[in-house]
Amino acid sequence: MQMKIEPAEHCRGALSVPGDKSISHRAIILASLTEQEVEIEGFLDAEDPRSTLVCMQALGVKMEQQGTFVRVHGAGINGLKEPSTILDAGNSGTTARLLMGLLAGRPFYAVLTGDRSLRKRPMARVTGPLKKMGASIDGRENGRLLPLSIRGGDLASLTFHSPVASAQVKSAVLLAALQARGSTAITEPGVSRDHTERMLLHFGVPLQWGKQGEIILEGPVKSLTAEQVKVPGDVSSAAFFVVAGALAPAGELLIHEVGLNPTRTGLLHVLSRMGAQITLLNQRKYSGEPVGDILVRGGKRLVGVDVTAEMIPRLIDEIPVLAVAAAYARGTTRIQGAGELRVKESDRLHALSQELGKLGARIEEMPDGLSIQGSRRIPGGSGSSHGDHRIAMALAVAGLFAEKETIIDGVESVQVSFPGFFDRLKEITC
Ligand code: S3P
Repeated sequence: MQMKIEPAEHCRGALSVPGDKSISHRAIILASLTEQEVEIEGFLDAEDPRSTLVCMQALGVKMEQQGTFVRVHGAGINGLKEPSTILDAGNSGTTARLLMGLLAGRPFYAVLTGDRSLRKRPMARVTGPLKKMGASIDGRENGRLLPLSIRGGDLASLTFHSPVASAQVKSAVLLAALQARGSTAITEPGVSRDHTERMLLHFGVPLQWGKQGEIILEGPVKSLTAEQVKVPGDVSSAAFFVVAGALAPAGELLIHEVGLNPTRTGLLHVLSRMGAQITLLNQRKYSGEPVGDILVRGGKRLVGVDVTAEMIPRLIDEIPVLAVAAAYARGTTRIQGAGELRVKESDRLHALSQELGKLGARIEEMPDGLSIQGSRRIPGGSGSSHGDHRIAMALAVAGLFAEKETIIDGVESVQVSFPGFFDRLKEITC
């Protein structure tokens, strides 16, 4: 499917964005492990979290969903059942990797697969530690790629130094550790998003932090309990509007109820350093997660910056739209230490350099990053999403400030995280 984007004069108005994708997955999984009814408010009703919901149903958990409201009838950790069908994670790396961690501790057999993109993405980072804890896992390329089969149960604890700063890896090991005998300790080379830790605490699981910052979980955990989870808007979805608002020649945008977890707000800091006028308002907490409204004003030219490796985990999913901000900034932006982008829903370094390049941006692909020479205007043209939701939305924002109209191919991919994205974009631009 294609979408045409017309150049915009200003971005103006107020909007909210759909629920946080990472938190929605975790809410469904942890609520399933309770032995009570849990109400989830603000659930992201999009393809990725729906994959998690359907997989948990296949494991015997009853759920009632009405749009962004889900009532989960928790089955208890020991109440999950061997699925009679293959679990399909679709496009969702979070579904696949977190479920592997959960299934590693269950004494039954399950097979997990995903779509064409997910079947290319690395799974050894998760299957490695889970096998060490005692799970039997097999799959293509010696357990490196989906489809994977798991026979779990009887796990031992693990001291795990993750080689990558990845919330999916950390969360998979935490979900296995819940079910393992003894104390599991996890460290990672940079701080990845901590939604699993916050939500485990919300569900009454006693986590501790050691002197080296290691996360410690004493298993097996007998019960999880919570009555409600309130999911904030997804800062990664808000990011497209924050950049649109900052690049607009005029106008002011207010984005309501956005998750402002400090492990996720790297883009807001980088944009502020580039000169964007961003204010956070009305800060509060939902189920242990910081939330606030984001006000962004246009009318000021941004300036290029250097983004270095240690900043990457806090803006890993925002690099596509950061590259768009850089394409319109004065001077050069260099993004380094972002090799992880090559194993996302697409090879995002390649996709960005190719597709923003087609719109006329001066962008160069490097082994682990991008170098972008900004211009006041780029010509616009035709670009493709590479089947990746965040590339599609980043190209749409790029098209708003181009000289002529921009056509984007493969926009159905936005259903993964942000149904309604293009309608909202139309509402706030003219
Ligand atoms: C996610 C973690 C990140 C992120 C992804 C969602 C999560 O992936 O890119 O979109 O919900 O845990 P990695 O753990 O691979 O860095």
